[in-house]
Amino acid sequence: MATKPLTGHDTPGDSCTIVIFGASGDLTKRKLLPALYNLKALKLLPENFAVIGVAVTDSNDEMFRSQITSDIKQFATRPVDQAEWDDFAKRSYYISGDFNSPDTFAHLGAKIEDVRKTWNLPGNVLFYLAISPSFFGKVVEQLGNAGLTKETPDTWRRIIIEKPFGHDLQSARDLNTQITSHVQESQIYRIDHYLGKETVQNIMVFRFGNSVFEPIWNRRYIDYVQITVAEQLGVELRGGYYDHSGVTRDMVQNHILSVLSLVAMEPPASISGDSVRNEKVKVLEAIRPMEPEEVLANTVRGQYGAGLIGGKNVPAYRSEPDVNPASNTETFVAMKLNVENWRWADVPFFIRSGKRLAAHTTQIVIGFKRTPLLLFGKEVQDDFMPNRLVIHVQPDEGITMDIHAKRPGPGISIANVPLDFSYNEFGESTAATGYETLLYDCMIGDMTLFHRYDSVDASWRIVNPILDVWQALHPRDFPNYASGTWGPEASDRLVAKTGHAWHHYELKK
Ligand SMILES: NC(=O)c1ccc[n+]([C@@H]2O[C@H](COP(=O)([O-])OP(=O)(O)OC[C@H]3O[C@@H](n4cnc5c(N)ncnc54)[C@H](OP(=O)(O)O)[C@@H]3O)[C@@H](O)[C@H]2O)c1
Repeated sequence: MATKPLTGHDTPGDSCTIVIFGASGDLTKRKLLPALYNLKALKLLPENFAVIGVAVTDSNDEMFRSQITSDIKQFATRPVDQAEWDDFAKRSYYISGDFNSPDTFAHLGAKIEDVRKTWNLPGNVLFYLAISPSFFGKVVEQLGNAGLTKETPDTWRRIIIEKPFGHDLQSARDLNTQITSHVQESQIYRIDHYLGKETVQNIMVFRFGNSVFEPIWNRRYIDYVQITVAEQLGVELRGGYYDHSGVTRDMVQNHILSVLSLVAMEPPASISGDSVRNEKVKVLEAIRPMEPEEVLANTVRGQYGAGLIGGKNVPAYRSEPDVNPASNTETFVAMKLNVENWRWADVPFFIRSGKRLAAHTTQIVIGFKRTPLLLFGKEVQDDFMPNRLVIHVQPDEGITMDIHAKRPGPGISIANVPLDFSYNEFGESTAATGYETLLYDCMIGDMTLFHRYDSVDASWRIVNPILDVWQALHPRDFPNYASGTWGPEASDRLVAKTGHAWHHYELKK
């Protein structure tokens, strides 16, 4: 099931050893350890399990246990129960070694075997690659060469690969060729933590678990779709990585196109594994890659200058640490995409994402067409917006439907009123990192929320021609938006060309 609430009512994942490459890294301490602890607290981690951390730093089992004990105190998203944590810590091990060295993997193989015997574990192993993307191919190759990826009829070997998968279309293809010469596609879990978010998973339930929406979910009733992923943060300490990436690679190629495909896909034959992934990839394949002149007409890029965020002065992108002072990397992107199939032909899908914007929010807006008749008079009708459905992904998870109602009193005066649903009202939801569902799904072998290679390839086919044009034509106006605004003015003009406007951001309470 793709949309289970992780509340402890499910059966635990399969007993396994979890190997974390990059055990001393930022992702491990801030997300993976708290997520594994949350699963344990919810009784969704198998009772019998072990964790082996691998990184280059010299350390040992005892030092690793004390390191993760101090990390969990800092980063846990729920109170830490001492007995639960003690059990977690005593099942945790560490080996140090360089990913480039085959010795590291020989050592790892021996450690997996030792730990398996100590705890009487089956041979299932989940390898989590919480490491720089430049090591993804190498580590899988080394695992394969060391014989650590071989499955048996009774045991599995699965690999979770972090993002980004490739830097462009060609490098994604090369990486995939390298990886799949050692493991099957069915062993590869390409993670997108966006898909671990409750509201994103709820898109499917919302669309296919209610009978009222599907009949109107098409070009006859829907005027436009907007997806906004806005951050107030700048590049923080990730300037070195970001300056080689930019927002289009960092957000659009993976998260946003994946969310778009959930919004636009046909109903799947079932809610698990390949049925959903088959439908998602069809959406991406229906988005025709843009010709150079279409890139110029349908995309806008931006880079933030100095400005005010929350009343505080913040520096321009080009003044951030580890960023080239003459950088042309985009920190904002807006584009109009068309899903060229029978359901969506001519419906614009506007997407935008950026750093140092006016608000921190992720929203999906479905704009419905106007009523066919102006029954209440043009003046009255002009006052209100057509119906709109807003799916709030973060930080205020929920759904709002804007409808119209008559104001009380004589005469006809119409107001926009929201029908509101907030995830906070669900008592069962628990503080989570967004990685719990994905780790759990990997342990039960559910690949629904992970990217299959064909969708990675299809996303790069959409994004790559845009990046090519931008690379050939250097931006002449960077920085072109002040921090704390909604990006360059050209972004508003892009949407206005089809008679639309960006949805005015409102935080749901
Ligand atoms: N951080 C996040 O919030 C975040 C969010 C989304 C995705 N990601 C993705 O998650 C992955 C990891 O990111 P991160 O921020 O955690 O990276 P990081 O803090 O730089 O950690 C990298 C880890 O790799 C280890 N390492 C580096 N070179 C090695 C080598 N030659 N041999 C063995 N170990 C080596 C480091 O070990 P030492 O410490 O011992 O040097 C460290 O444990 C990346 O793919 C990133 O794109 C991260």
